[in-house]
Amino acid sequence: MGNSEGPQQVPPLSRVAEASEASIVRAADILCAQGLVAFPTETVYGLGANACSGAAVARIFSAKGRPSFNPLIIHVPDLEAAEGLVQFDLRARAAARAFWPGPLTLILPRREGCPVSDLAGAGLPTLAIRVPAHPVALALLKACGLPLAAPSANRSGTLSPTAPVHVAESLGDAVDLILAAGTCAVGVESTVLDLSEDAAVIARPGAITAADLESVLGCSVTYDSGNAERPVSPGQLLRHYAPFTPVRLNAVDVAPGEALLAFGSTRFMGIRDGTGAAADLPETMRRNLSETGDLHEAAANLFAMLRALDRPQHRAIAVMAVPEMGLGIAINDRLRRAAHGAGTLPV
Ligand code: TXA
Ligand code: MG
Repeated sequence: MGNSEGPQQVPPLSRVAEASEASIVRAADILCAQGLVAFPTETVYGLGANACSGAAVARIFSAKGRPSFNPLIIHVPDLEAAEGLVQFDLRARAAARAFWPGPLTLILPRREGCPVSDLAGAGLPTLAIRVPAHPVALALLKACGLPLAAPSANRSGTLSPTAPVHVAESLGDAVDLILAAGTCAVGVESTVLDLSEDAAVIARPGAITAADLESVLGCSVTYDSGNAERPVSPGQLLRHYAPFTPVRLNAVDVAPGEALLAFGSTRFMGIRDGTGAAADLPETMRRNLSETGDLHEAAANLFAMLRALDRPQHRAIAVMAVPEMGLGIAINDRLRRAAHGAGTLPV
């Protein structure tokens, strides 16, 4: 249901094209001419540009209002293309073979002569790279023949887009074309696995968990504690993925004026002043990430439902607890950042 949330305002539809052979060719032409194309991936919609062109990449930073010290993920169509840009060791190759195409980004040392612009990599000696598991993304990568730098297709700090209309609302005319192909199946950004040093560290949790990776790598994989001292990427900034309405976590009841983002049953949840049950809140004030407690369904609904409840008339969004396991780790990571400094605008 969250995946079919309606638009809040009419988007500039002239820039939205349903993905087709013809629109993918048009998108590839735009990318080759250093333009910006938003395209679907299995995680969220990406804002793509030619990763080898500093000028094209600069347009991503300005369209998103993103600080340029934050490096971008480079998207390629297959492992072979990735091997041309970064250095794989045995662990990285095993991870790529097991999980690509898929929601896994690898941080690896740049190869000498790697053509990706320094701006895309924020001048670092490493690069973040992934092969997305979406037929439209793969067709686009093949059609343009370029590695594509692509962060999520939204203004920096705000909710990530899981449907074309979210991109149009957030970026408007700043994007040359939005390739539309429905909602994103995973719903949270890829797992970022840093393999540039000996320890295997997850810099950003996603659908592929530490346990999934350990079973393939045969070594221990830890989650970066993500301390504020080292904001490697925008996704690691304390306040990110944020609605404008304050977010209150671990809610066991709903305060008057609050909207409810539930997870699982709300049968025993009440309104704080004793005026009734949460289940009686008007439709506009409640969403359920997954009535059955399914974490995959919850991740796919997360951003669209936060977006739907992000209304000035709501005092806050009360969010029920989500278990800290499997995909729940990624969901809680995004929710904590959404709640951080609640009530202030994202920086
Ligand atoms: O699911 C996704 O990954 C989406 C879709 C569009 O593919 N893309 C996305 O890209 O989220 P972006 O550029 O917003 O992701 C930035 C992440 C940061 O969390 C950061 O951890 C990591 O990439 N990153 C990029 N380059 C890095 C580097 N050299 N060292 C460490 N982390 C890096
Ligand atoms: Mg993002």
